Amino acid sequence: MAANKNLLVLAGDGIGPEVMSQVRRVVEWMDKRRAVRFDVTEDLVGGAALDVHGVPLAEATLERAKAADAVLLGAVGGPKWDDLPFEKKPERGLLALRKEMELYANLRPAICFEALVEASTLKPEVVAGLDIMIVRELTGGTYFGEPRGIFDLPNGERKGVNTQVYTTHEIRRVAAVAFELARKRGHRVCSSEKANVMESGVLWREEVTKLHGEAYGDVELSHMYADNCGMQLVRAPKQFDVIVTDNLFGDMLSDVAAMLTGSLGMLPSASLGDPDETGRRKALYEPVHGSAPDIAGDGKANPIAALMSFAMCLRYSFDLGDDADLIEAAVKAVLGSGIRTGDIMATGAKLVSTQEMGDALLAELDKRAA
Ligand code: IPM
Ligand code: MG
Repeated sequence: MAANKNLLVLAGDGIGPEVMSQVRRVVEWMDKRRAVRFDVTEDLVGGAALDVHGVPLAEATLERAKAADAVLLGAVGGPKWDDLPFEKKPERGLLALRKEMELYANLRPAICFEALVEASTLKPEVVAGLDIMIVRELTGGTYFGEPRGIFDLPNGERKGVNTQVYTTHEIRRVAAVAFELARKRGHRVCSSEKANVMESGVLWREEVTKLHGEAYGDVELSHMYADNCGMQLVRAPKQFDVIVTDNLFGDMLSDVAAMLTGSLGMLPSASLGDPDETGRRKALYEPVHGSAPDIAGDGKANPIAALMSFAMCLRYSFDLGDDADLIEAAVKAVLGSGIRTGDIMATGAKLVSTQEMGDALLAELDKRAA
């Protein structure tokens, strides 16, 4: 029998713990009902870690995350910690995890489920059948570039600085992930930057083009300025298959893509590093939505993005495509039966709590595995 899979659960702040407790139920279900066994450890990140350790990511937690087969994260941040100095903010915990684990490729699929076509603010014909994948570079660019900081100027003014910087190797490795994914999908990659105004964008375009010529001639490559890409995502999103872009543009474009699917509460993500000698990639899975402090603790949060992130974990970390398919099918069936959390509520549907959505998903899993 295969060794147990080690999962580290970092529920974090806001609605993080609520959605992750529903994911935990599904992990337990998998453990009992399918051929896979999990060892689950929990730890703190973000504001939850700050309150206990005084830092948003304790050293021991980082070591646990590096040693785990996969990390499942909820969300970080909240008004309670908004006034802290920058280095202590809950978000720094998440950014440190991404950087220290070298999770440079962030996969953010945007799929519009049949049952949610009406939940999107866009016209049904624009989003029906949508299935795109945004690959966001996650450990470089403006988020980490040096110099950075807020500096006092001799004239009494202040200067805020962040630096957009990319090297050849950073661009090539994330582009390779996008091309590989495209090979398993629609064989098309659109690379997005601002080569019209930024040198880092010029380099990005040149390196992606070069790698394409060297190794991925079977995939169709196009380029699009990031502003146009944002516009095209709301105008005609189905023109895309895989989009590859930098850290900051990827942050924005993936929020735009989320609304195509009906709600930010539906979008999962996987953050992957390079495979080691055994083929194992360091990996972290998290919903794209944040900690949503406005509804935290109310039982209103949609656990589907977190659950679909676990499905991505099964697919990408453990090669358990059938189990991932099972979860995705259960989600589709539950939505199809008209059960909705508030964020995707529609007239005539049944409004449920986070816990009740979990109940419905587990009942559907039971039915499918019977
Ligand atoms: C995301 C979030 C994060 C980011 C925040 C919470 C640091 O917006 O994952 O998209 O900016 O990357
Ligand atoms: Mg974001």
